[in-house]
This record gives sequence, structure tokens and C-alpha cells, in this order.
Amino acid sequence: QAAVITVDGPSGSGKGTVCQLLARELGWHLLDSGALYRVTALAARHHGVELDDVEALEVLAAHLDVRFKATDGGDTQIILEGEEVTHAIRNERVGEDASVVAALGPVREALLSRQRDFALAPGLVADGRDMGTVVFPQAGLKIYLDASAEERAQRRYKQLISKEPGASLGDILNDIKARDARDMNRAVAPLKPAPDAVILDSTLMSIKEVLQAVLDEARH
Ligand code: CDP
Repeated sequence: QAAVITVDGPSGSGKGTVCQLLARELGWHLLDSGALYRVTALAARHHGVELDDVEALEVLAAHLDVRFKATDGGDTQIILEGEEVTHAIRNERVGEDASVVAALGPVREALLSRQRDFALAPGLVADGRDMGTVVFPQAGLKIYLDASAEERAQRRYKQLISKEPGASLGDILNDIKARDARDMNRAVAPLKPAPDAVILDSTLMSIKEVLQAVLDEARH
């Protein structure tokens, strides 16, 4: 079995960036599990499946025709049914829909083996909410990356403001708190640290510092 490092945490904690850098640094594979939930949500929209139609969503997730394609530049393109959706899945609406779809047990079950298939030699960095608790309970290192809701809202605001000059920090903070509540209070695979996770609070840390802290943990 390949080595696995799991990184779980709430929206905006910096997991995505840290996992990309970590995977690059180690030369390991990367699983962006959130992208799978986002792609499922987008596929539902494309096929006119309602977000409360659990059976149809389960079928959709089980048969999802998605590919993660490495580009020469080192980035990953996400292809859904032959169409590139790398950027389309990043929109706020899709993120919201993803967290609704992700609360459904049968959908999570349907995506489980697909996620475990990413654990190939020499190793895997797995980014998500339940990587350490459900998907890779045997992982050699589990990180739970947290930050205050206010700091996470600030980070998102800085990303958004160039694209959307009308963005409101207050609205973003409310969205983040709503998403936290949904991810932490759901019945299946709620967001929480695995009992054996190393908890890192990135509120006052740069991405570089977080990366270094994770590498230090990985090396000892
Ligand atoms: O980057 P951001 O936190 O906004 O979203 P993401 O990591 O792409 O995940 C989108 C949504 O998918 C999250 O709000 C979770 O509800 C869900 N998700 C999950 O339930 N389990 C995972 N392993 C990853 C994501």
C-alpha cells in the first residue's frame, strides 16, 4: 500500500494550496476530493437532476465520467464527460451545491473506491474533509488544518475582489459560517479531526510556514 498524507479542514483553511505544494515537493500524487463533489454537483445540473433526488445522485456519482489530467505545466485539468470543467467547478454556486450533495451518504459511498484508487506509489496527498477519518483511516500522517472563520473570509475576499469588485466581506463570512455548519453537522462523515490528527492552526501562518510544518511532521 502506498504512503498517504491526509489534510482535512474547513473551507479556506489553505488546504488546497498546501496540498498542491506538498505533492509537488514530495513527488506524490494528489487527490482533490472536493473536486469530485463539485463535479458531481455540476453533473447533476447538466443532467437536470434535483439535489434532493438521492437515488439519481447516487447513480450519477457511481458512473461519473471524470478524468484528472496532468498538464505539462504541472497543473491538473478536470474533464467531465469529455468537457473541460476545471474552472467551471470553482464557482461559489457549485461549491454550495457540492456541500449539499456531499451530505448524502449514498453519494459518499459511491465515490469512496474512486478516491482510494488514487493511493498509488510513491505516495498520495489527500485533500478533503474526511480523508483521515473515513477514506484513508490507515494514513501515516493526518493533518487537520484550521483557521478562524474571519481569517478564512479575509483570504477568500482577497482572492475574489479582483474578479468581483462588488464582493462583500460580510457576505463571504456568512457563507463560510454556513458551509462550516453544514460540513460539521451532517450525519455522515462530518468534518472533524481524526483522533490521531496533528492539528495546525493557520490563522497566523503563511502558506510557506504551513508547508514547512507539514514537511517537518512528515519527516519525523
Ligand atoms: O475549497 P472549498 O473548501 O470551498 O471546497 P472543496 O474542498 O472543493 O469542497 C466542496 C464541498 O465538498 C465542501 O464544502 C464539502 O461539503 C464537500 N466535501 C466533502 O464533503 N468531503 C470531502 N472529502 C471534500 C469535500
